[in-house]
Amino acid sequence: MSQSVYLPSEEFARKAHVPDIKAYRALYSRAEKDPEAFWGEIAEREIHWFERWSRVLDWNPPFARWFAGAKTNVSYNCLDRHAASHRKNKAAILWEGEPGDQRALTYQELHRLVVRFASVLKSRGYRAGDRAIIYMPMVPELPIAMLACARLGIIHSVVFGGFSAEALKARIQDLGTTLVITADGGFRRGKEVSLKTAVDEALNDCPGVREVIVYRRTGSEISMKSGRDFWWHDLDAAASEDCPAEHLDSEHPLYVLYTSGTTGKPKGILHTTGGYLTHITATMKWVFDLREEDTYWCSADIGWVTGHSYIVYGPLSAGATTLMYEGAPDFPRFDRWWRIIEKYRVNIFYTSPTAIRALIRQGEQWPDAHDLSSLRLLGSVGEPINPAAWEWYYRVIGKQRCPIVDTWWQTETGGIMIAPMPGAVPLKPGSATLPLPGVVPEIVDFHGQPMGDNREGFLILRQPWPGMIRNIWGDPERYKEQYWSRVPGAYFTGDAARRDSDGYYWVLGRVDDVMNVSGHRLSTMEVESALVRHPAVAEAAVVGKPHEITGQAVCCFVTLKRGDWNHDQLGNELRQWVSREIGAFARPEEVRFSDALPKTRSGKIMRRLLREIVTSNSVTGDVTTLEDLSVVAKLASQQDEE
Ligand code: WTA
Repeated sequence: MSQSVYLPSEEFARKAHVPDIKAYRALYSRAEKDPEAFWGEIAEREIHWFERWSRVLDWNPPFARWFAGAKTNVSYNCLDRHAASHRKNKAAILWEGEPGDQRALTYQELHRLVVRFASVLKSRGYRAGDRAIIYMPMVPELPIAMLACARLGIIHSVVFGGFSAEALKARIQDLGTTLVITADGGFRRGKEVSLKTAVDEALNDCPGVREVIVYRRTGSEISMKSGRDFWWHDLDAAASEDCPAEHLDSEHPLYVLYTSGTTGKPKGILHTTGGYLTHITATMKWVFDLREEDTYWCSADIGWVTGHSYIVYGPLSAGATTLMYEGAPDFPRFDRWWRIIEKYRVNIFYTSPTAIRALIRQGEQWPDAHDLSSLRLLGSVGEPINPAAWEWYYRVIGKQRCPIVDTWWQTETGGIMIAPMPGAVPLKPGSATLPLPGVVPEIVDFHGQPMGDNREGFLILRQPWPGMIRNIWGDPERYKEQYWSRVPGAYFTGDAARRDSDGYYWVLGRVDDVMNVSGHRLSTMEVESALVRHPAVAEAAVVGKPHEITGQAVCCFVTLKRGDWNHDQLGNELRQWVSREIGAFARPEEVRFSDALPKTRSGKIMRRLLREIVTSNSVTGDVTTLEDLSVVAKLASQQDEE
C-alpha cells in the first residue's frame, strides 16, 4: 500500500466550494443527523421545482421515493433556467468530431434544438411513459435526443454504440420500446462504425417498434424502410419552437440503463427524476469543485452511466460547459486528448484508469508536447486506480498541481458516492478516500457483521440516497434479491473493500461474477451464454484475467462437441463470435480448449479455480492450448467431498 498523502495546494483549497476538512466533516455530520433536512435544503437550492414536495423521503425498504409529489423536469433544469439567465450565451456543449469537425452550442442554442426535437416527438404522438431506445455515436444529437425525451417524460435507454445488433435487440425487447433514435453511423479510428445496419438487423425481431429516427452523421449509404424510418433533418424541417417542459412527478422515470449482473441477462437499472438530479448536481460542486468559468471534460462514452450523469445531466444542470469528443484517444496519434485539452483550455478532466494506463505505455513525449497548464483538477472512475498510474497522472498530466478525485460509484448509485472533496480531503493514491455527505458505507463479513479497520470485506451502504436505483425494469424481485437480501436493510454493492485507520476506503474489485474490462462491466455468464450459442461449443466457463492495461481481460475455457476442430481457427472464430453477439469490447483475449471443466459435485463450474489458473500461469496472447482440466476437475471434486 502506498504511504504517500497529497494535500491540496493552499490556492486550490482557498477557492474551493469545500475549503477544508472541517467543512467536509460539518457537511457529513449534518447529513448524518438529519438526512431529509440536508437533502431537502440541497434540492431547494440547486433545482427548480414547479411544485414543492410534502415529504423528502418515503422509504419503504427497499423501495424509495424522493421528493414524491413534487413536480420538476430535468430538461428544464438543464436548459430553460440557464437559457433565461446570464448563461444564455455560454457554451453548454463544446464538441469535436474524430475527423476534426467542431461545434459549440450555447445554452440558448441547445435549448432551441432540444425544444425542436421534443416538438417532433410530441407531434408524432410520443407521450410521458413511452420508451425510446437511443443508439447513437458521440454527437450533440445524442444528448439532444436524451433531453428531448426527458422534456416530455419519455423514458430513454441509451445503448452504447459498441453493442452489437443482438445486444440491442435484447434491450429493445426487454423495454418494450416503440421508438428507436439512431444515426447512419459514427467515426472511430478513422473508420465508420455503422449503426443503422445493426438497428435494421435487430428490428427483424422487434415488431413493437413503430418508428426509427435517423440522424445523418457520416453520410454513407443506408437503407430506409418507408413508413418506419425517418431522417432527423426531414422531421426537423417541420418542427415547432414551442414545446414546454412537462411538469413531471419527482419519481417519474427518467431512464433505464442496462448493465451486466451475475446472470446472462443484463438488468435495466431504473433512475427517476428529482432525486437523481439533486444527487448529480450536488456532486458536480462537491467533487469537481465546479466554477462558472470552467471547461469540463469527461472522456467517457454517453452509453455508460458516467456519460449520463457526468457528461450530460450533471454538468448541464449545474450550468457548466461540457466537452464531448466523438472518437478514439489515439487517433490520428497518441496525443489527441492532450491536443484537445490544450486547444479548448480544459480545466477539469475526468477519465478512467484503463485509458491512463494505455497512454502511459505510449510515453511522456505525447503529453509533454502540449500545454496542459489550463488543468486544475483531474478525475478517475470505473475501476480501482493503481498507485503507479495515479502517480503518473498526477505528475505528467497534472504537473503536481492538480488534485485527483478518484470517484467510486456504480450504474445503480446514479452518482458519485465515495470520493474526495478536492479542497478538503488529503489524497492517498489508490483510495477513493471518504464517503460524500449522506453516504453511509460499511465493510461487513459474510454474515453481514461489521468488520474492524484494515480488514477486507463486502462494501455495503446503510442508508438510501437520492440518486439510487429505484428498481430493475420489470423485475422487482430481482431488485430485492440482488441488492437488498444479502445484508437485510442494506444495499449490497457487489464490491470488496477495506477501510483504513483514517477512515479511507480502498475498493478492491467485484466479488460476484462480474468482470471489469476497461472499466466496462461485463458478466461472465453473458459471455458464456454467447459462447454456447455457437454450434461447436458444448460448455463454456469465463473468468476475468488480470490485465496490465484493461484491468481485466476476458478468458474463456471451452469444451467442444464431437468433431474434428482446428483449435487455432476455432479460437479466432469464437472471439469474433462473442464480438458479434455482445460487442467488440467483450471480445475474449483468450480462448482455451479443454476436455472437461472443473465442477463441484452439484455440477457448478468452479470459476474460482479457473481464476487461479489464469492468474497464476503465464499463458499469454492468442495461444489456444488444449489443456487437461479433467485432472483439476478430479482434484477439485475430491476437495469438495471432504
Ligand atoms: C468499479 C461506473 C474502484 C466497482 C461508474 C463498481 C470502481 C463498478 C471505481 C461499477 C473506483 C467504479 N474505484 N472501483 N473509483 N469506480 N468501480 O456500473 O467495481 O459501470 O462496482 O459504474 O466499477 O461499474 P459501473
